[in-house]
Amino acid sequence: MSEPLILGIESSCDETGVGIVRGHELLANEVASSVEEHVRFGGVVPEVASRAHLQAMVPALRRAFAAADVDPMQLDGIAVTAGPGLVGALVVGLSAAKALAVALDKPLYGLNHLVGHVAVDMVEHGPLPQPCAALLVSGGHSSLLAVRDITGDIVELGATIDDAAGEAYDKVARVLGLAYPGGPVIDKAAATGDPKAIAFPRGLTAQKDMAKHRFDYSFSGLKTAVSRWVETARLEGRDVPIADVAASFQEAVCDVLTAKAMDACGYLGASDILLGGGVAANSRLRTLMEERAAAQGVTLRRPRPGLCTDNGAMIAVLGSAVVAAGRAPSALDIGADPGMPVTQVVA
Ligand code: KG4
Ligand code: ZN
Repeated sequence: MSEPLILGIESSCDETGVGIVRGHELLANEVASSVEEHVRFGGVVPEVASRAHLQAMVPALRRAFAAADVDPMQLDGIAVTAGPGLVGALVVGLSAAKALAVALDKPLYGLNHLVGHVAVDMVEHGPLPQPCAALLVSGGHSSLLAVRDITGDIVELGATIDDAAGEAYDKVARVLGLAYPGGPVIDKAAATGDPKAIAFPRGLTAQKDMAKHRFDYSFSGLKTAVSRWVETARLEGRDVPIADVAASFQEAVCDVLTAKAMDACGYLGASDILLGGGVAANSRLRTLMEERAAAQGVTLRRPRPGLCTDNGAMIAVLGSAVVAAGRAPSALDIGADPGMPVTQVVA
């Protein structure tokens, strides 16, 4: 089976995503977000997210089948996010996928959400050059990966030792009085700011840290530095220059993310690097990666911003690669795995 027709269901956080692919070709990508329901809480409320998935799942499935003009009986497999994520949210997608797998008598593939973020570029740019390096930056994870085989051989070179990059964006946005989620609003505010206005720290880049943490990240010191800077300005009665703080914070994040990603390419001898996860939608990260990759003669693969945040297409296309590689399906009784490691592609 070279061009499997795969349904992908994603429900790990606040987006209900349903995607359908044939091989690498994207036939449908329906996303229903509950983000508006979480804004007033300043972060995702798990119970609210689970209920929203329940309400959105069947309509999203119907819309996806209609958009793709596909009869569910034609499917070759059903892929679903098994983890990591919020357990109550994951369970909704898993239940839907299992019900379909049983009713239609199709194989079920419980897949890793994080690997999906890295795999989604295939719907735009085709098969992955393997091996390659990958920078995965989402709301809950920030890692540097060596992707030897997207369907089952991934090595984590390093990861954040505290906050994820997306988490830092969300927390700094709160300090600045900006809305949740912080990534897109800081990205926008930074556009008119001076990235050199304030010299914020670059975590784990000092010589003494590099021996043990060469490919690891740390954003909590940066987050604290931004809070202190803003607090001091307010105490001194100064106006907080939101655009400059946003731009300087963003520069610190993107500088470290890209510097270590390019170091990983050199270390691995990789000629290609993939960018994935919600923070990969960030305009500065995309530009800086492009510049630094080009300077090092490395090809950058980055999905369009709309495919960087959570969606069903990423699970569908990873499922398609897993099926094409002949990997065994998951058992029908697999559970949600909130802490599924990035090295485990299929549950
Ligand atoms: O991958 P994702 O959609 O969900 C998780 O798997 O966590 O990532 C969500 C994260 C949030 O923290 C959000 O603030 C961040 O991605 N994000 C961005 C941008 N768009 C979303 N961060 C920086 N710049 C953006 N343009
Ligand atoms: Zn995600």
